Amino acid sequence: MKVRVLGSAAGGGFPQWNCACDGCATARRTGAHRTQDSVAVTGDGTAWYLINASPDIRAQVLATGELAPGPGPRDTPIRGVLLTTAELDHTAGLLSLRESGRITLYATTTVLAALPFVPILRACTDLRTFELPTNRPLVLDGGLTVRAAVVGGKVPRHADPGAGDEWVCALRITDRTGRAFVYATCLPEWTDAFDDLLDGAGAALLDGTFLTDDEPARRAGLCRTPRQMGHLPITDAIAALERHRGTRVLFGHLNNTNPLAIAGTPGPAEAAYDGQSIQW
Ligand code: MLT
Ligand code: MN
Ligand code: ZN
Repeated sequence: MKVRVLGSAAGGGFPQWNCACDGCATARRTGAHRTQDSVAVTGDGTAWYLINASPDIRAQVLATGELAPGPGPRDTPIRGVLLTTAELDHTAGLLSLRESGRITLYATTTVLAALPFVPILRACTDLRTFELPTNRPLVLDGGLTVRAAVVGGKVPRHADPGAGDEWVCALRITDRTGRAFVYATCLPEWTDAFDDLLDGAGAALLDGTFLTDDEPARRAGLCRTPRQMGHLPITDAIAALERHRGTRVLFGHLNNTNPLAIAGTPGPAEAAYDGQSIQW
């Protein structure tokens, strides 16, 4: 099982183009940039799946040798895209994949119904949409199996709340040997069901949007808490991780308020970084 972190920042990236906060100013000064959350995963080193398609996907694919096209002129190792939300920072990159002869998309029926790009993509490419089931595993190429679980109900600002109730998913992706990777960068709370999903995974990319509960208020003057924004802070996840000591845990989707977004900042958790490769 191999996972490449294509991007490790929350929506807007790091620095965000119009933000002069301390974190973004430091990132601008030091050149320590992060692109927006997307991951690539493979079970056989040949067939790759994208988990989410960030607005930075073109640059992310170009920066990743394993995702280079070939051997035919328009062949790509990217077999499909798994969407875990309909948020623009996880889906707008689909528009940049439109040159593909075919796009194979997996998402819950709620997310598929809420995606504004579907008619546009249908006009540009052979778009194939498949339901990402939340009650049974789905078999992918290269020996991978994915199990999705609904972890949140946050409706994107552009979406109709009536589209359904399966808005935010976590994924457990397993290879032929039973090795498993869990992706959950939008995790509003830690439930027993999530504990089960994580159980025995070799690696996980978890919600690193915020480090602490008071961070949005203290660093950005926001009145909503991380949980109200759909993101459990890292410090609250750490206690629950005691039960998963065998799992290599990285935190991604880092917001510009999170001090760990600045590489090298000491902290209680491992921040993922763009281009990071993990294999086990
Ligand atoms: C989120 O991660 O909570 C969303 O991307 C936020 C947003 O885009 O409004
Ligand atoms: Mn986001
Ligand atoms: Zn900022």
